[in-house]
Amino acid sequence: MKPKLLVARAIAPEVLQSLSNCFELEENQADIIFSESELVSRLRGKFGMLCTSSAKVDGSLLSQLPELKVVATIAVGYDNFDLNACTEYGVLATNAPDVLNETTADFAWALMMATARRVTESEHWLRAGKWEKWSYNAFLGADIHGTTLGILGMGRIGRAIARRARGFDMQVIYHNRSRLDKNLELEAGGATYVEKDVLLRTADHLIVVVPYSAEARHLIGADELALMKPTATLVNIARGGIVDDAALIQSLRDKKIAAAGLDVFENEPRLNPGFLDLNNVVLTPHIASASHRTRLAMAHKAAENLVAALERRVPPNLLNT
Ligand code: DGY
Repeated sequence: MKPKLLVARAIAPEVLQSLSNCFELEENQADIIFSESELVSRLRGKFGMLCTSSAKVDGSLLSQLPELKVVATIAVGYDNFDLNACTEYGVLATNAPDVLNETTADFAWALMMATARRVTESEHWLRAGKWEKWSYNAFLGADIHGTTLGILGMGRIGRAIARRARGFDMQVIYHNRSRLDKNLELEAGGATYVEKDVLLRTADHLIVVVPYSAEARHLIGADELALMKPTATLVNIARGGIVDDAALIQSLRDKKIAAAGLDVFENEPRLNPGFLDLNNVVLTPHIASASHRTRLAMAHKAAENLVAALERRVPPNLLNT
């Protein structure tokens, strides 16, 4: 008999097909987000779970699931996993990094450009039938080329974002927990390390790419926003909660910064309603890695980790030991 696997969210049929060679699958093609109690009841007797960031895996869940051996998220971010609890209960936890770096970097650029050049705001206006004449002053925005790009968090996605700036003649500055070595700075298009306050004061466009952790909560709050230029734009493609949404809304309302592009939110998918009344914000529903090819690659990567666990090999993207 094959070991049982809960596929906790809807994923590509080809990945289900390949997993079904090794596991007896319980699928969720209706893509319901299970409550903790439902997750527990579905996970009883399962060897593993393929999930996304919506499944919280902590001690309270794991204490009820002695047979569970592995949880694999189809995401690079794994703030939904309590790794200490996974280790304590002997559960392997894995993520799906790297395959999404370039796609996510593309999207950071899309959001930065849409934000700076007021793409969605002007489209809403046009769709509302308000366009009567070409106008010299309409929807003036900020240039991207020749400006300074600031990156907060210079991991693999941050570096992929930085590399793209070469084509736009931008100067790239970054802040990270630790400075990158020279080769990585060169690979990132010659990005220059600066302190966080210098990053905030200097960047014309700031992109937030740090992973979520308790220490990263509200890394960008009222004090940080106050340091930014009134002409600056802010993009967050990392995790909601790294930026203090209420402080950002206030800053956008007061025009303390020019505009923001947000793919992630505190308490998503329930947005702070303050965002919806603002014109100077571009809002997208956590889709930075959502290209056909990349989402398939992410799911395949998660599946590889599950199969490795089943075959008692060390999963390639093991997060705990
Ligand atoms: C990731 O990979 O972490 C994306 O944000 C999807 O959760």
